[in-house]
Amino acid sequence: MPQADYVLKDGRTVAFSRPGRENAAEMLAFLSAVGKESDFLLNDGTIMFTLGQEEDFLEASAKDALGGIFVGRVGGELICSFGLTTSPRERARHNVTIGLTVLKSYWGLGIGSAIFSYALDFARETGILKNMWLGVRADNERAIALYEKFGFREIGRHKNALYVKGVYYDEILMDLEL
Ligand SMILES: CC(C)(COP(=O)(O)OP(=O)(O)OC[C@H]1O[C@@H](n2cnc3c(N)ncnc32)[C@H](O)[C@@H]1OP(=O)(O)O)[C@@H](O)C(=O)NCCC(=O)NCCS
Repeated sequence: MPQADYVLKDGRTVAFSRPGRENAAEMLAFLSAVGKESDFLLNDGTIMFTLGQEEDFLEASAKDALGGIFVGRVGGELICSFGLTTSPRERARHNVTIGLTVLKSYWGLGIGSAIFSYALDFARETGILKNMWLGVRADNERAIALYEKFGFREIGRHKNALYVKGVYYDEILMDLEL
């Protein structure tokens, strides 16, 4: 497993781990909070799962050798999460997509960068994953700067892919060869 602790710009440390079913309530509360804070996520803060569904999902995710859900904690508080998703099909199993979110009060401290350091090490260590892909709202400049810093490049756009508060936005598709 990659290094799990990263020192932030303010001297604090973020520690990454894999949540299990015991973290389900905390995870749902976190997802509700970040969804309400940012218009850049598909998640708008509406909880889509019951506690039991989330427990089962996290338990299965923790066993996924090629990805799953990860969380980051500062001083024990859950302040970010990211997901690595692969296809169950052999023919596309080497492609992983990433999605991430950081609690707004922690933006700009280097947590997004720590997530990519960890996620890229994790993906490369599998020895199976070859490509990492993501999608980002075209006006999400902070996120795009982060992705470009780690080598992701735009490969195309979905026109009007996202509909947020009455406005359609393009989604930029970005790829990185691992
Ligand atoms: C996008 C997001 C994950 C970035 O996380 P973060 O912890 O703020 O990222 P970092 O502090 O590591 O900053 C990463 C890079 O963003 C850029 N950046 C930082 N502040 C910025 C700002 N105010 N404006 C534009 N770019 C900025 C810099 O290039 C920075 O790299 P540097 O620290 O080497 O200069 C976070 O803002 C977030 O969760 N946003 C809401 C949800 C979201 O948009 N998720 C992504 C959906 S695709």
